[in-house]
Amino acid sequence: MKWKGIVAYLKESAYAIVYRQYEKRLQNQINCTEVPEHVGLILDGNRRWARDMGLSVNDGHKYGFEKLKEVLRWCWQLGIHTVTVYALSTENFKRPTQEVNELLKLAESGFKDVLNSKEVVENEVKITVLGRLDLLSEPLRSTIAEAASKTKDYSKNKLNVAIAYGGRAEIVDATKKIVESVMNGTIRKDEINEGTFSKFLYTAGQKDPDLIIRTSGEERLSGFLLWQSAYSEFYFLDVYWPELRRIDFLRAIRTYQRRKRRFGE
Ligand code: FPP
Ligand code: MG
Repeated sequence: MKWKGIVAYLKESAYAIVYRQYEKRLQNQINCTEVPEHVGLILDGNRRWARDMGLSVNDGHKYGFEKLKEVLRWCWQLGIHTVTVYALSTENFKRPTQEVNELLKLAESGFKDVLNSKEVVENEVKITVLGRLDLLSEPLRSTIAEAASKTKDYSKNKLNVAIAYGGRAEIVDATKKIVESVMNGTIRKDEINEGTFSKFLYTAGQKDPDLIIRTSGEERLSGFLLWQSAYSEFYFLDVYWPELRRIDFLRAIRTYQRRKRRFGE
């Protein structure tokens, strides 16, 4: 029994040493080239991870939320200045009411955290919310508005939270705004082009994502930043979101750095 314990301890220590060495190596490799300016995150696999761990769906989302905070820290440390997170799609609202309510509670506590977060201040993070906010409750909307207003003058880092978001809905909403603008004479029909169109999207004025990462083995966008992802690089990995390790994230960045982006040229 005693020997078994010692062997397990040695195995764990050896694993920790190898992990640390590999992490250092990845970090050194990444430091040699520019990191992406804007990363999109499709955090997926919370419920499957929870099931595997014998936890409830809500616990899966809670761990997912904690992982998000950790990943944001990695981004700020690495100098990734804009992160867009797919927190809740319009489709997610079709899930069981109890799950949706728990997710919305988690979102509300997340935005409340922002109001007292030292890290948000230290990293000068401007929070923007993308989505059909009218689908959210009044208390949540006002917490979101407070978080956005408190951080509006920061410019070093940006965190966009896509909540009640759908890429097609965003394009439809932009089209409606354009039609209104044409009708009231603010712009002329022949002034509409890709550049002007993007000014009507929720992400107006922001750079398109360079890299979009999706966890859990699913390889699709599920409506995430449909317009903005036209020339993004994609990185899909099999791990569930709550179990994402720093080395997984660093490998995603390294893969991005090794790709050649051509933008159709
Ligand atoms: C994906 O896993 C996760 C979600 C759809 C919800 C993620 C949202 C949060 C953790 C709340 C964060 C809130 C803010 C404001 C940032 P899944 O539920 O699709 O799991 P599965 O793919 O295993 O079914
Ligand atoms: Mg999922």
